Amino acid sequence: MTVFEKAYAKINLYLSVGARRPDGYHELTTLMQTVALFDELKVTLTPSDVTDVTLTVLENTDLVTDGRNLAVRAALAYLESAKLTCEVRIELKKRIPVAAGMAGGSADAAAVLRALNGVCRAMDDDRLLDLAATLGSDVPFCLIGGCAVCRGRGERISPVLGAKAQNIVLAMSGEPVSTPDAFRTLDLQRASGVATANEEALVSLVEYLQEGGRVPALYNSFEEAILPTLPIASELHSRLCKTADAVLMSGSGSTVFGVFASEDDAKEAANALVADGYRAIAISTKI
Ligand code: C5P
Repeated sequence: MTVFEKAYAKINLYLSVGARRPDGYHELTTLMQTVALFDELKVTLTPSDVTDVTLTVLENTDLVTDGRNLAVRAALAYLESAKLTCEVRIELKKRIPVAAGMAGGSADAAAVLRALNGVCRAMDDDRLLDLAATLGSDVPFCLIGGCAVCRGRGERISPVLGAKAQNIVLAMSGEPVSTPDAFRTLDLQRASGVATANEEALVSLVEYLQEGGRVPALYNSFEEAILPTLPIASELHSRLCKTADAVLMSGSGSTVFGVFASEDDAKEAANALVADGYRAIAISTKI
């Protein structure tokens, strides 16, 4: 049986990194938003006495395709947890930039879980979310998508209902950022103390998303620590600041995005960046 899934990228409209926990993870308060940029997956399941998972990547052949790839790990974890054996062939059209702060790998893993559970129906939503959390901090959100405030490691999800579509420009510098390295850099830079999340700023942001009005200030703890180490992303950030209502780096970088008042304004800004040789797209948060 073959199923097709889309794996949507996310941006963080707010990301406050709190203290490092005894388990090595950091307490997060983040507002995640799905954007209309996606990988495409074709997942073929064949009944078999032994489990065998293979991944073929189209359009980005640099990606690892063995057990280090989160999509493969997701399939293996699902089958093991469900006590099933199966041959799984995954074909992945990779469009979300890798190591760019948009949860591309997590989105693929979530899409594999959706595909397998759609066919096998071995788990209810809660069990699938628990399994997703074992694969990575962003995987539970990617399973649900939309707009949500996520806390804990990222796995405690409160959906934001009725969030209005935003006009976004994603500007992708191509400078890869390792997430564990970014957390380490942040820890070193603020050895003297950790800021607590600004809940008021988060409330203002949720109100803006639900009711409209002026875009409030956006915040990402990683921006101050990581953006200065990324020359192209820094340039893209400065360029977007000239025309966007708000600009922020997503996740641990390196993608930066701008929020624009209209689709036309977003297209104009993206076209101007593309004309100067940068990779940028105007995109909606509506999927
Ligand atoms: O959960 P995930 O495997 O995606 O996380 C990748 C790395 O990012 C972790 O190994 C950890 O170093 C860091 N991380 C963290 N706190 C979080 C999420 C991720 O320190 N809440």
